[in-house]
Amino acid sequence: MRKKIVAGNWKMNLTLAQGEQLINDILQAGLTLKEGQEVVVATPFPYLLKAKALLKNYPGFYVAAQNCHSEKSGAYTGEVSAEMLQSIGVDYVILGHSERREYFQESNAMLAKKIDQALANGLKPIFCCGEPLEVRQAETQNAYVAKQLEESLYHLTAEQLKQVVIAYEPIWAIGTGLTASAAQAQDMHAFIRSQIANKFGREAGLHISVLYGGSAKPGNAAELFSCPDVDGGLIGGASLVAADFVSIIEKLS
Ligand code: 13P
Repeated sequence: MRKKIVAGNWKMNLTLAQGEQLINDILQAGLTLKEGQEVVVATPFPYLLKAKALLKNYPGFYVAAQNCHSEKSGAYTGEVSAEMLQSIGVDYVILGHSERREYFQESNAMLAKKIDQALANGLKPIFCCGEPLEVRQAETQNAYVAKQLEESLYHLTAEQLKQVVIAYEPIWAIGTGLTASAAQAQDMHAFIRSQIANKFGREAGLHISVLYGGSAKPGNAAELFSCPDVDGGLIGGASLVAADFVSIIEKLS
C-alpha cells in the first residue's frame, strides 16, 4: 500500500555530459518497475530540466532537487525556490540532508519552512533525518530523530503528510562504508513509523514511505529492503555508477 522508492542523490558530482550518460545507462538496463515502485534521481539544479526530459517516457521515474529555499521568493542571491522547481516540472525535493544541516546550518525550524514551501508548490519532500555517531553510541538515537520529526513535520496536517517521504540516514553511515545493520535500520524505521502514527493516526503511519540511506550498495540492499519497515533507499555514492544503482533498484520487492 505504500510506495517503494530508490532515490539516487548525486550530491555535487558529475558534469552534464556524465549525468546524461548515467541516466541513459540506467534506462538502457530496461528495468520493469512493479506497481507502486519508483526511481528518483536527485541531480544538481542545472541538470534537472535535462533529467526530466530524458525520463519523460519512463513511467515510475522521477526527478528530485537536492534543496530549495525556505522563502517564497525575493532577494536571496544564488538561491532556488520551490516555485522555480515546480515551474520546470520537478517532482521531489530532498530536504534536511545531514550535509546541509552541517555545512549550511539548516535547523529543524528552517526545514519546517522549506517543507511548507515544497508542499505549497506541489513538490514532494524527501525529508532526511538521522543521528550522529556520538548519539548512536549514547543510545539516544530515538529521542534525537523524534525531535527532528517533531520540529520539522508535526505542524503539517495528515493530508499534507501524505506527500512526504522520510529518509533515515544515520550520519555515521553516510559515505563511510559503515552501513546500519538490517536490525538497526528496521528498529529505527519502525520507531519512525510509530511516531508518525501517534501524531497523525494509524493510517498515516502505514502510508508513509521510509527510506534508508547510508552506504547502501548492491551487496546490502536486498537485506535492508527485506525489512518490513524499510521502503527503499536514498543512495549516494552507488547512485553514480549505473550498474550499481540498477542493481540496487532490482532489490526492491
Ligand atoms: P552514501 O550512499 O554515499 O553513503 O550516501 C548516502 C546519502 O547521503 C544519500 O543521501
